[in-house]
Amino acid sequence: MVRAFSGIQPSGTPHLGNYLGAFRRWADQQQADDLYCVVDLHAITVPYDTQTLRAQTVDLAAWLLAAGLDPDVCTLFVQSHVREHTELAWILNCVATTGELSRMVQFKEKSKGQESVSVGLFDYPVLQAADILLYHADEVPIGDDQRQHLELSRDIAQRFNHRFGETFTVPRPTFPPVGARIMDLQLVDNKMSKSETSPQGTIDLADDADATTRKIMRAVTDSGSEVRAAPDKPGVTNLLDLLAAASGASVDELERRYEGQGYGTFKRDVADAVNDALRPVRARHAELIADPAALIGLLYKGADRAREMASATMDTVRERVGLLR
Ligand code: TRP
Repeated sequence: MVRAFSGIQPSGTPHLGNYLGAFRRWADQQQADDLYCVVDLHAITVPYDTQTLRAQTVDLAAWLLAAGLDPDVCTLFVQSHVREHTELAWILNCVATTGELSRMVQFKEKSKGQESVSVGLFDYPVLQAADILLYHADEVPIGDDQRQHLELSRDIAQRFNHRFGETFTVPRPTFPPVGARIMDLQLVDNKMSKSETSPQGTIDLADDADATTRKIMRAVTDSGSEVRAAPDKPGVTNLLDLLAAASGASVDELERRYEGQGYGTFKRDVADAVNDALRPVRARHAELIADPAALIGLLYKGADRAREMASATMDTVRERVGLLR
């Protein structure tokens, strides 16, 4: 059995790129051994608001469930509910080096121009390694931006095994297929990301159908009028990828279907397909979020399951590194 583990931060608002690139992919592939984690401890490495964090943690869990992660199949939980994550992170801190952490591109980007940078932000990739290694995950489905962090997790696992004896599974990353990367509708060279930076270019899962349609109708296209995927047509290519992802048709098929038609009908169809795909997810999210107590109950159960595995790993780790039992 191959075990997958992945995590997502409860910061900002989840958007269509998260859904198509991560949530739906995780839900489609989920198996009994898999774990999915809302990583709230990673979210506190940069300035944040405490009440917002709590609300976003619950909200993100609701989106993951609405997207199809099934707590009867896999384990969905909140990172801070399983204290072993922070404990293992400390021990791995003594295996990772400041040199390798200093080379992390995401740290350099996130700390650039900040007047005060937390030690937590620097240490973020070590906590991420702990997340993964605690559960002996074989596969870690991630986006391209997490490649370097995964490489570090592998290095830490190997170094630990070498120093203290075979303990951790060395995880391998898996990436979404090409075309699953959804770009911003306005800034077509950027990946779709948090709506604070590009409200018109980002489709939030929480947007209603009208807002979704409006944003897609106003999406940047390219000069010319052909509905065709090409490097010099990033806007149209992105919309084709979106329609393919939302409808299940291939890009080739879609190019044929829209031959000789203008951008207007095409965009209208993209908007309809996206709204059709999101409708049941949005409805399920609304139901879940209406009963936060039940939702949090599910997360506690997930944490109980995760903790069983995590504490067994920590027994071994404590032994291996020479802590007194
Ligand atoms: N750093 C990841 C991101 O920003 C989130 C994350 C935390 C994660 N722990 C993880 C992803 C463990 C995969 C596995 O996307």
